Amino acid sequence: MPQTVLVTGGAGFIGSHTCVELLKHGHEVIVVDNFSNSSPGAVEAVQKLAGRPLPLHEADLRDRAALDAIFAEHEIDAVIHFAAKKAVGESMKIPLEYFDTNIGGTIALLRAMNDHGVRRLVFSSSCSVYGETPKVPLNEDDPAAPTNPYARTKHICEQLLGDACARYPELSVIALRYFNPIGAHPSGEIGEDPNGVPNNVLPYMAQVAVGRLAELPVFGDDYPTPDGTGVRDYIHVVDVADGHRVALDHLDDERGLRVFNLGTGSGASVLELMAEFASAVGAPIPYRVEARRPGDVPALIADAGRVERAWGWRTTRDLAAMCADAWHFQRLHPTGYSASPTV
Ligand SMILES: NC(=O)c1ccc[n+]([C@@H]2O[C@H](COP(=O)([O-])OP(=O)(O)OC[C@H]3O[C@@H](n4cnc5c(N)ncnc54)[C@H](O)[C@@H]3O)[C@@H](O)[C@H]2O)c1
Repeated sequence: MPQTVLVTGGAGFIGSHTCVELLKHGHEVIVVDNFSNSSPGAVEAVQKLAGRPLPLHEADLRDRAALDAIFAEHEIDAVIHFAAKKAVGESMKIPLEYFDTNIGGTIALLRAMNDHGVRRLVFSSSCSVYGETPKVPLNEDDPAAPTNPYARTKHICEQLLGDACARYPELSVIALRYFNPIGAHPSGEIGEDPNGVPNNVLPYMAQVAVGRLAELPVFGDDYPTPDGTGVRDYIHVVDVADGHRVALDHLDDERGLRVFNLGTGSGASVLELMAEFASAVGAPIPYRVEARRPGDVPALIADAGRVERAWGWRTTRDLAAMCADAWHFQRLHPTGYSASPTV
């Protein structure tokens, strides 16, 4: 059934890809974003790609009056809540900003949903809630043990969503714990275009490949992994987007809070990812090894079984597709959405 979906943070990396999937599948989509880590160019590209309009509200999620106006203007069936700050390192420098944006934003959103009778929510959580654990793979019943303010905001949001569901039994909330989303839409028209120096490995690598950055720092090559570098469960952003579309269809299966991992169930090391990306680029990626970063773990891999058992859903795109698609976007947009295509 087509739904009208409010997407917070819809101009961001995962949000923009999710908007395309939703529009392609007949849903009406409304975006709210303050462009703190994105640009309106992403929303324009989504509209072009989907061939459909995408109403956009430039607003901060913590602005209750702005949220009220959005809920009053549109008949919203469900909300997908991406808007948040997401850099672990930054969260240790400005924890209060993280609490304010991620937790304060979620509370403002829940209050607005409550006041406007919207009961269905998909929430962006993260594998970082599991913290420093040697366990591989991780399932949703493993204990949460966040080790930094960013991860703590996600864990606290999951807890407050659980409490809200206990108080308001008509609420249906699905929290999706993504592992490491990378890649881009295969068209090359949308991808990851963070403001400033990227915090994540693949966009950093891509900017090295186009000459915007000199070399990739690899944090630690002495982990107990096959090549000594950290292993992560990379998942194609279009699979993540598709997971949200399917989650929407399952919101009414049950009331209350449900938690699912979104990952592939297998991992790649930084050097393996770099080799795959270099083969997409057709040139080696300059890199230098640096000390381990505090808080990093050797390997983080999802047990992807719960979502498959519940919805019959699994990822379909491999590491080669993730790298080829990320490179396609970067090549077409070497300086992000602000630039016109050069290739
Ligand atoms: N990318 C990852 O590796 C990853 C992994 C796990 C979880 N997540 C979560 O997924 C969500 C989306 O991540 P992403 O990679 O697309 O990040 P992103 O930074 O590209 O997108 C977030 C969007 O939210 C917007 N935003 C931030 N604060 C806002 C506010 N107060 N009001 C309105 N808009 C605001 C930003 O401008 C941006 O467009 C986040 O909640 C993030 O924590 C991301």
